[in-house]
Amino acid sequence: MSVSGQEKLKVLIRRAAIKKRVHEVAHQITKDFKGQRVHLIGVLKGACIFLSDLVREISLETSIDFIAVSSYGKGKQSSGQVRVLKDLDSSIEGLNVVLVEDILDTGLTLTYLLRILQQRKPRVLRVAALLDKPSRRLKPVKADYVGFTIPNEFVVGYGLDYAERYRNLKDVCVLSLPPA
Ligand code: IMP
Ligand code: MG
Repeated sequence: MSVSGQEKLKVLIRRAAIKKRVHEVAHQITKDFKGQRVHLIGVLKGACIFLSDLVREISLETSIDFIAVSSYGKGKQSSGQVRVLKDLDSSIEGLNVVLVEDILDTGLTLTYLLRILQQRKPRVLRVAALLDKPSRRLKPVKADYVGFTIPNEFVVGYGLDYAERYRNLKDVCVLSLPPA
């Protein structure tokens, strides 16, 4: 993997552990929605890899859609402003929706998404987040399914980026930047 400048990567969660946990979360979703259909909504772009692994482990009738929001600029800091960049393709009215997020950090993005999606009258609206950084929370919001709870570190890989890079790492890694 090519790492630019003085950026350093340290593995936090190995691919085998991710695989095992994704399987467990999918199994839980399969149990919780037994006999029903689930509609997964991936929050682009970070959740695309998690969603694609998760959906293949769910043994139910499924459908998928994506929404893109922007809350972060190019770097590591949240701008605090959430905006829809790409809306859903279809209605979620009456559906069992599982919103799939890469990481739950301050909770600003999720709070906003839950508000706008709830207005569209899904039957059920749940949240699956691969990672959770509870220590950073500014809004009192929780995921129903959490892959891993992690410390307050900036992580990349398995879909998560830093300025659009590193999404292709197979492990979740802590990214350290050179001092500014
Ligand atoms: P929140 O609104 O602060 O909860 O942020 C959610 C979004 O911020 C996530 O969907 C990610 O795109 C991004 N984000 C938060 N923490 C990290 C991180 O450690 N690495 C990469 N992206 C992050
Ligand atoms: Mg991002």
